[in-house]
Amino acid sequence: MTAASLAFETARAADTDPDLQAVQVVCGRCHAPAVFLKQSRSWDRWNDVFADMTKRGANGTEEQLARVTTYFLENLTLLNVNTSPADELAWVLGVGDDVAQAIIARRERQPFANIAQLRAVPGVDPGKLEQRKSRILF
Ligand code: HEC
Repeated sequence: MTAASLAFETARAADTDPDLQAVQVVCGRCHAPAVFLKQSRSWDRWNDVFADMTKRGANGTEEQLARVTTYFLENLTLLNVNTSPADELAWVLGVGDDVAQAIIARRERQPFANIAQLRAVPGVDPGKLEQRKSRILF
């Protein structure tokens, strides 16, 4: 995707996505969102970025920051199904803690090899999985 079409897609999505709107308000103040929208990272790496940006002066209301967190977890965070902690499994896959624990129990018996095996865990949402599969690692 070119920078121009990314900017266009982003502007259009922001009309309907309040989480993305919050990202643009909080993170778009000093630089274009293209700085961070094109590349997924692990949640640890994003927390390093958030800490760095906070030091540089990034801020927002509690609600804006919660929306920014949600946006990054749902759209830009890499997840390793076989190693990521329960909270990241729950957030990135959009499942409850019980399902995250079931995933952990399953991977302790036998690591997941592919998306189909993950989809087979009861409670995993196939629609969210399809949408996020490019960020799911094994
Ligand atoms: C107060 C100004 C400011 C705000 C607000 C801000 N940034 Fe930045 N950001 C900077 C500056 C300055 C740089 C350039 C740093 C450099 O060149 O080393 C930067 C660079 C970056 C980079 C590239 C460096 C890297 O670690 O890859 C990313 C990614 C980034 N910002 C993400 C964000 C995100 C996400 C937010 C919202 C949570 C945000 N920024 C909000 C000032 C800001």
